[in-house]
Amino acid sequence: MTVLTTNYLQEDQLEESHSSSMTAMVLLRSVTKTYSNGVSVLSGVNLEIKQGQFLFITGPSGSGKSTLLKLLYGDELPTQGEVIVNQHNMGVLRGDRLSLLRRRIGVVFQDYKLIPQRTVAENITVILQAQGYTRKEIQRRLEATLKMVGLLKLAEYFPNQLSGGEQQRVSIARAIVGTPPLLLADEPTGNLDPTNSWQVMQILQKLNSFGITVIVTTHDEQLMRRCNHPVMQIRNGKIYQIGCPVSS
Ligand SMILES: Nc1ncnc2c1ncn2[C@@H]1O[C@H](COP(=O)(O)OP(=O)(O)O)[C@@H](O)[C@H]1O
Ligand SMILES: [Mg+2]
Repeated sequence: MTVLTTNYLQEDQLEESHSSSMTAMVLLRSVTKTYSNGVSVLSGVNLEIKQGQFLFITGPSGSGKSTLLKLLYGDELPTQGEVIVNQHNMGVLRGDRLSLLRRRIGVVFQDYKLIPQRTVAENITVILQAQGYTRKEIQRRLEATLKMVGLLKLAEYFPNQLSGGEQQRVSIARAIVGTPPLLLADEPTGNLDPTNSWQVMQILQKLNSFGITVIVTTHDEQLMRRCNHPVMQIRNGKIYQIGCPVSS
């Protein structure tokens, strides 16, 4: 473990865990989600994800994996029921309070969503700058995060000069540089070959070992088998446990 290079992550996670060690990181209570066009995605879903867990969510295309994550980071509201993340009810938060909570949730997408005309370093730090971190702190976090994802040498490159695996590692760095206690990854390996997929998974698992709760959606059965984490499947609007027990 790269203790020296990533100590800010561990320090901050330790602080978080003191405040909420007995509580769930994610709680869904009878959640139903129907889009305004009438498409019904989730119906009466209950789910508890404890702090510090690593969980896979799988299910057929169109089953609602992305919708579930959107509910968790406040991009969609539940039609019925409660979505509670880190003790906050996402259904009632608005404006500044929602923005503040969203800063505490790291999100990684299949297509990376990097800013093309910004360097790797800028892509990672742009949010910290907006949040008023000092230059020294930004530099400290940037360096530690780049080391953690193995991209220190590529800090001044632009996204189109990187491979898919490298771009995904930049997007992970961007998601965690603000030390969120929760990291959501929506098919993060969907565009990657097996070698790069495994590299990304190893980084996500290392982050989980620092205490970050990690939720990953994926179709990749081989990857899920290779990692020994609980698996939930979304099917016909419900969520089922298909791997090892969730409440470990
Ligand atoms: N904004 C939206 N408006 C209407 N329907 C949507 C919207 N987003 C997703 N859907 C529909 O909801 C269902 C679940 O989508 P999604 O959560 O993206 O599934 P998955 O990520 O498992 O492939 C699909 O039928 C999709 O077409
Ligand atoms: Mg999806």
